[in-house]
Order: sequence, then C-alpha cells, then structure tokens
Amino acid sequence: MSAEIYAARRARLAAKLGDGVAILHGAPTRIRSNDTDYSYRQDSDFFYLTGLVEPGAICVLAPGPTYTVFVRPRDRDRETWEGRCLGVERAVEALGADAAYSVLEFKECLPELLGSASRIYTDLNLDENVTRRALGSLHVGRRRRQKEGSGVRALEDVGALLHGLRLIKDAEELALMRRSAELAGAAHSRAMAVARPGMLESELEAEIDYVFRRGGGSGPAYGSIVASGANGTILHYVDNNRRMEDGDLVLIDAGVELGLYCSDVTRTFPVSGRFTSVQRAAYEVVLEAQLAAIDVCRSGLPQSGVHEIATRHLVEGMIELGLVSGSVDSVLESGDHRRFYMHGTSHWLGLDVHDVGAYKENGEACALEPGMVLTVEPGLYVREDEEGVPDELRGLGIRIEDDVLVTSGNPEVLSDGVPKDADEVEALVGSSTRVVLPGIDPL
Ligand code: GLY
Ligand code: MN
Ligand code: MN
Repeated sequence: MSAEIYAARRARLAAKLGDGVAILHGAPTRIRSNDTDYSYRQDSDFFYLTGLVEPGAICVLAPGPTYTVFVRPRDRDRETWEGRCLGVERAVEALGADAAYSVLEFKECLPELLGSASRIYTDLNLDENVTRRALGSLHVGRRRRQKEGSGVRALEDVGALLHGLRLIKDAEELALMRRSAELAGAAHSRAMAVARPGMLESELEAEIDYVFRRGGGSGPAYGSIVASGANGTILHYVDNNRRMEDGDLVLIDAGVELGLYCSDVTRTFPVSGRFTSVQRAAYEVVLEAQLAAIDVCRSGLPQSGVHEIATRHLVEGMIELGLVSGSVDSVLESGDHRRFYMHGTSHWLGLDVHDVGAYKENGEACALEPGMVLTVEPGLYVREDEEGVPDELRGLGIRIEDDVLVTSGNPEVLSDGVPKDADEVEALVGSSTRVVLPGIDPL
C-alpha cells in the first residue's frame, strides 16, 4: 500500500483527537513452545495506521498533527538469527514519520510528546506491558497537572475513534480483499475438485493451505474447518482428522490472509459428488436463505436485517423439513429454531476476520454504507443426538458463507469464484482433472 494511504488514515484519526494523543503499540511476540514463538502477526490497528509489520514498535500521534515512531534499534546479532529490521535510521523515510527514536527512548520522550494533552487514546487490551505503560503515562500527567495545571487525566480506548474508520474500506484495501476472497474461492474449488470418499479431512486442509500459500497468502486467516459427516454440526470443529465416507457432506470454512486482509468462506458439498434428496432439500433451504440475505446488503439498510431475513427463510425451511412445527412467527417467538441455527448470520470483515466496528449505535442497528464488507453465512445444524427430528436429518451440518461488499448499487459478492448452486457443486466435486484455478494455474 502507498505511503499516502497510511498518511490519510492518520490524518483522519488526528482530526478526531481533540486535545488527546494517540499511542498505539505493535503486537507483542508470543511463545508457542519453550523458545519458539508463534509466527508473528502485527496488530491490526497498528498496521492500519503505520503499515509496519515488525514487532516491538510504538507510534504516537499528537495534535499538530505530529507522527512519532519508536522502533527496535538495529542489532547485528539479533538480525542474524531473526531477520532484518527497519531500524531508527530508516524509520522516518520508510514510515513517513516526523521523528523516529529507539523504542528504548520511549519513556524519556513521553512527557514532551504528551505536552498539555488531557487524554491518551490507546490500545488497553493488547497485553499487560502495554497496559502497565499506559498507566505509567497517567503518572506523567498527574505530575504535569500538579506543576502546570494541565496534563493527561484519562486513558481511553483508541478503538472508539479508529474502528469506525476501519469499517469503510478504501480502494487499496478492497483490491486486497477481492484478491483474498478470490484466492479463498480457488482453494475451496480445489478442495471440492480433489475430494473423494476415503480421504482424510486433513488432506483437504492441506490442499487448501497449498493454494493459500501458492497464491500469495500468508496462510489461513483462522483455523480452517474441514468437517465431514456429523462433525459439520460442531461450529468450531478444527481437528480435521476424520476419514470421509461415501454419503457424507463436507463443510469447509476456510479463508486466507493476504496482505493482512482476510477472507472467510464456507461451502458444503457431498464428498461422493451427489447430494441425497434429503441433503439437497436442506442445502437448498440454506442457499435460499443466503441469497435472500445477500440481497439486503444494500446501502441504507440496517445490518441487522441480514440476520433477520436469513433466519426467517431458515425457519420456513425447518418447518418444511419437519424440524420444527407451527407458523414462522410462532417458531421465531418461541426460539425453537435456535436448536438448529444458533449463530449470527453476518460479521464485519477486514484486517480481522471478525473485524472491528460497531453493529449498533445508541441501541439502533447501524445502516450499511458503501465500502463496508460483511459475511453472509446462514447454516443448518442437526446434532446427532437431537430428539424429535427425522432420522435422516440427524448429523447434518450445512453452512454457506460469502464475503459481500456494500456498494451504492447491488451487493458485490467478493467470493463468487467458487460455486454454491447445488448442480454446479455436484459437477465440481471429484472432477480434479478438469478444474483450473484462476490466478494460480495457467489457463
Ligand atoms: N470462520 C469464522 C466465521 O465464519 O465467523
Ligand atoms: Mn467462516
Ligand atoms: Mn464468518
């Protein structure tokens, strides 16, 4: 992304600061086992404003506005083991900052940077060190108030100012999100195409990982779910170790992180390439609910409408399938449908898979605006031990999830490169010699 994009974002945040100062920290590194770390992922807020992906940095935006960064100093030994780092000398130019210092100088520089500001907007929940540092800055403010009559008296969540900005994606973000969704679609297509009864769920996960990495992604945006048979009724199933059997449905929920932007896509398909009539009937219920819900992703409509319309369609389907009885309204009123549909239908998507941004303001559902990206993901889950339901529906788990951009016109489905029409799904499953992956394989 260009330096101007980050500068424009900082300017938008600075315009909201009043007499406050924003202090954001890079994500800490985290130990995975003994002396080995988890692979590093920058904090999304910090990345959004700086574009810096290395650990150990702090940025300060103060009225003026001025932009000061604190980065890890270069260290020949550490860089030999862990790789190159930006260093103080290059930080001003690389990050477009007004000034750059070693992170070791942060405490010393803080009083001057805070000046007479009355509040600090910061990321209070990142980790204990950050929280401790933020509390330390309150002491700086208290001393200053005592001596000069003005100074920091409050810490506030920077998210309150920043997350509304992140909700509306700019053109460069949308380019990455389109590519991320396209790559997720390619991975799902490949998984469907190579699927056969007798394979392990993990084999399909490996195919997905391969496409993600080969297509330029850094890896899965979240733990991929490859859930066959009754595993599809476990919402956060990640074991991915069952051998798939003829007659199973396979639910795959997998998205890629690309340039730190996430996709989040789910498809459900019969591993042997043919839905049974009951599976197809249930699948059509979920698909119809999803299409209706995508159609309300329009500028000016409430985000909550996505869940409302999907749920209404699902309940109609549940009645037809014999899962619940009564009228749609009476079922909705009683909540009986929640046995088979127990999650929301939509969340914001962006740098975080469950992206930041409010769903309600002052108790009112937020209206959709062009540039917002959200998932639409209805499902139907009948647990194996569910009582009072037709036998042939037990153990059935179906979800269909796409990533949708709100525009000034029709909704744009970013992940439409992978089929979801039941006939098209059947045609793709097991067809591995015929599939071409756009952007991955030569045509
Ligand atoms: N994959 C996480 C979700 O669908 O929300
Ligand atoms: Mn998902
Ligand atoms: Mn999702």
